[in-house]
Amino acid sequence: KSYLKTAWAGQNLFYYEETDSTNTQAKRLGEEGAAHGTLVVAGQQNAGKGRRGKSWSSPPGSSIYMSILLRPELPPDKAPMLTLVMAYAAALAILEQEDIGVKIKWPNDLVLNKKKICGILTEMSAEVDYINYVVIGIGINANTESFPEELSETATSLRLESGESVCRARLIAGVMERFEQCYEEFVRAGDLSPFAAGYNDILVNCGREVRILEPGRERNGISAGIDNGGRLLVEYEDGTTEAVFAGEVSVRGI
Ligand code: BTN
Repeated sequence: KSYLKTAWAGQNLFYYEETDSTNTQAKRLGEEGAAHGTLVVAGQQNAGKGRRGKSWSSPPGSSIYMSILLRPELPPDKAPMLTLVMAYAAALAILEQEDIGVKIKWPNDLVLNKKKICGILTEMSAEVDYINYVVIGIGINANTESFPEELSETATSLRLESGESVCRARLIAGVMERFEQCYEEFVRAGDLSPFAAGYNDILVNCGREVRILEPGRERNGISAGIDNGGRLLVEYEDGTTEAVFAGEVSVRGI
């Protein structure tokens, strides 16, 4: 049964029972000229990738592993915002379908009861002034029953939190529908202004303490949410506010 009601997102669909990484596979398809919106879904990954060179545990049968190939007509420096667009779209789809109070942990993790249920990894092929393609990979812990010991304190699944099993095909379709809509709004606006307020409403960091790690120093502040460029606004004790980019910040307390 097909649930997918999109114009382009996920319409060109590749399903693999097993692959190395859906991101790597989507990049291969990108090199071969696959269309904007091509979606790669796998039942299991043998070399699932997380951010910062980490691996992403990808056992068969329970989770969602997928990557969408995009060919955005945007300057390359706007590509990082696409990751936040996906985080927001995935959160909306989960909220709508599963009625579970998922939150965003800036910039692009989804968390439930302080534990991670979804991670996003964006990769890009670009020249200085031109994007060839972007791959956004998303892993959603859907029906995972248990995690390896080292993850059990920090990871959870929709199933473990709600007690109900998730229809993966339906959730994948829901994420694609929301993503297509948010992507088009984002490209039209050129920034995250159409949904910065909505994003901030479900941002777990809002009003919380964050620790900003810069080379050589650490500062603590309170997060006031994102700006239209996807940067995290941080208010320091001395009253100054700074907008920080992803990658520089570690978030306390969750
Ligand atoms: C992170 O939070 O570190 C990012 C995790 C991203 C995992 C997904 S699973 C589907 C896609 N393929 C990969 O190899 N990684 C992403």
